[in-house]
Amino acid sequence: MQQDLFANKSKVWDKGSKRVKNAKAIADAILKNINLSRQMQLLDFGAGTGLLSYHLAPYVAKIVALDNSPSMLEKFREKAPEFTCETEIVLSDIADYRCDGCYDGIVSSMTMHHVEDISALFRQMRALLKPDGFIALADLDTEDGSFHSDNTGVYHFGFDREELRKAAKAAGFEKIAFETASTIAKEDRNYSVFLLTAIVSNI
Ligand SMILES: C[S@@+](CC[C@H](N)C(=O)[O-])C[C@H]1O[C@@H](n2cnc3c(N)ncnc32)[C@H](O)[C@@H]1O
Repeated sequence: MQQDLFANKSKVWDKGSKRVKNAKAIADAILKNINLSRQMQLLDFGAGTGLLSYHLAPYVAKIVALDNSPSMLEKFREKAPEFTCETEIVLSDIADYRCDGCYDGIVSSMTMHHVEDISALFRQMRALLKPDGFIALADLDTEDGSFHSDNTGVYHFGFDREELRKAAKAAGFEKIAFETASTIAKEDRNYSVFLLTAIVSNI
């Protein structure tokens, strides 16, 4: 296992009010765009301390929290009893995780920019989903590198929506749509956060 890049951040992650607000806004956008059901099993990719999962828990059967940071998952574990659905914790890099056709949906908040190969990520997500599965992924729109005070482990300064659309389509997704889920204000700048939704293409 690699070094835990979130070892220090995990201690104060949930104290960041902008972070908490952003995760709630992303959850609201997901709930608006996707019909969740109490039969569904979701994967939260880069679940961290569970800021996103917490708001989706009332609407699904189970959430699997996947993350490669032991310290972030430890915080998730502490909070899991408060969740209103079943939860499971998986300590893994998304690239190494195998579970073919397991999930009704994959959700994610602010994690994609930590993954270098986005085309491979979409292919991996496609393999993890059931034939009628969906993705609902939120992250920063293209920014100038100023969002993070330290860019260690950051492979993308946000994303161009059209580039993501192409990568998702090439990996076998359709009905690819974007909306702005949130705006994060920092000092004199605003950073917009998109929500990408799509379903598995069975063509
Ligand atoms: C910016 S945090 C977001 C956490 C949470 N989703 C939230 O919105 O509060 C990114 C999370 O993704 C995890 N992560 C980064 N790269 C990953 C990878 N390749 N596989 C699994 N988890 C990853 C990190 O450990 C971290 O917990």
